[in-house]
Amino acid sequence: MWNKVQETVAFINDKTNQFLPEYGVVLGSGLGGFANDISVAYEISYAEILNFPVSTVEGHKGALLFGTIGTKKVVAMQGRFHYYEGYDMKQVTFPIRVMKYIGVEKLIVSNASGGVNPNFKVGDVMMLTDHINMMPEHPLRGANDNRFGPRFLNMSEPYAKKLQETAINIAHELQIDLKKGVYLALQGPTFETLAEYKMVKAMGADCVGMSTVPEVIVARHMNMECFGISVITDMGDEENIEEVNHEEVLLAAKSAEPKVRELIKQLILNS
Ligand code: HPA
Repeated sequence: MWNKVQETVAFINDKTNQFLPEYGVVLGSGLGGFANDISVAYEISYAEILNFPVSTVEGHKGALLFGTIGTKKVVAMQGRFHYYEGYDMKQVTFPIRVMKYIGVEKLIVSNASGGVNPNFKVGDVMMLTDHINMMPEHPLRGANDNRFGPRFLNMSEPYAKKLQETAINIAHELQIDLKKGVYLALQGPTFETLAEYKMVKAMGADCVGMSTVPEVIVARHMNMECFGISVITDMGDEENIEEVNHEEVLLAAKSAEPKVRELIKQLILNS
């Protein structure tokens, strides 16, 4: 794994003339348009990148975008690898390993999720303060390579407090009602049954989704600072569960996109 990562890093650095971005952004549902906020200097499609997971989905669009936001250098993942697509956790998190060694110190991860906190509504934006990992496979399972990080990783601060504080201040200035809460990750691809949404709530989470947690675990393994943002695209309760489907999720994510984009842009400019 170490050699594979370093090979890919060398491949990318060659293509980008050692661009060395400080920020990494995973563009999930609700942040796709963020690509337009980046002055792109280099774009490399996943299919081209040495050792990157091969997409099995036809017409799958995926690329790394290298560019700037103001004076800050960023790399963005346009399209991510989900566990439910059939990739194993090492594949899902491989791009995060690569990001670390092309210079990324701060990782911003976005997603769409189903809300179970009754104070939430569709279209709300929630900052992740913590997470619960209920995925069936752990990305750090297996032999540990100490060059990446420790065998037994401390997870007391998965999402950097400092970035959270900065985001709260920015949201205040932008008059964005930024919710805060715990994200619980399930493998999907089914949406939850009503009983499962109730379980998610009983477990202490505020929302549920099918991504993000593996990436954050691997980023923390390599001591990257993380920031997570989620768009509440549906509510997992008695009144609303019938409306949960992919189209509604995409629609709600799109409607919240301007807010999320501006917040993330300002977070990068101010941290
Ligand atoms: N459950 C799981 N993943 C999701 C949901 C949900 O309700 N909404 C968006 N992604």
